[in-house]
Amino acid sequence: MRDAVSIPVTVKHRIGIDKIESYDFVRDFVGTVSNAGCEVFIVHARNAWLQGLSPKENREVPPLRFDLAYQLKKDFPRLTIVVNGGIKTQEEITQHLQHADGVMLGREAYYNPWLMTQWDALFWQSSEAQTSRESVEEAMVVYMERAHQEDGCPWYAIARHMLGLYHGQRGARLWRQVWSDHRLKPLPPREVWKKARRAFVDLEVDTIAT
Ligand SMILES: Cc1cc2nc3c(=O)[nH]c(=O)nc-3n(C[C@H](O)[C@H](O)[C@H](O)COP(=O)(O)O)c2cc1C
Repeated sequence: MRDAVSIPVTVKHRIGIDKIESYDFVRDFVGTVSNAGCEVFIVHARNAWLQGLSPKENREVPPLRFDLAYQLKKDFPRLTIVVNGGIKTQEEITQHLQHADGVMLGREAYYNPWLMTQWDALFWQSSEAQTSRESVEEAMVVYMERAHQEDGCPWYAIARHMLGLYHGQRGARLWRQVWSDHRLKPLPPREVWKKARRAFVDLEVDTIAT
């Protein structure tokens, strides 16, 4: 791969297969692959159980062992070691960064993407202006319109991936229901957006009334 491309080659891997739980296994793997010129390793810090578990179960059942990833960083200090697996909070990220070069979040970034808006300031000392959920939603509507115009992509193929935008906010459930309502599929996204906004407007009216 190194010979074939000019961009860096990175590898994402687990720490073992089935019941192979010795550190030597993953150490030898990283050693071999790094000898071929790979310098970045994203370590999903659990085994892959190839027998008897579905891919989904394989993201939850095998226990996380971050100490093995940390050990890789100690044994290969020149490599970039990124840890991954079950990480959800800022505190966990901060903790992992004491032992590893980076952290990868999968599901939490998808289900709770607003978490990421704090990262530039927290981890990169950037004073970038914070945006609002509303302006992200508006930008997504513009994107849905463009994707439809240019590629014929239906808005709901895009909207389904932004359903975490208001995660944890009051009104989020109603808002999600609008953006995932099959009956609204024939409408243009701007109209769906207006209906989705009602989830919060009605909430305000409700709050004022009570
Ligand atoms: C729907 C879904 C699809 C995934 N597909 C891939 C994939 O194609 N390649 C890969 O390396 N990891 C894939 N993963 C695994 C994630 O990259 C990540 O390693 C895993 O979810 C553990 O991290 P998390 O606990 O932060 O989600 C997938 C995860 C999910 C939820």
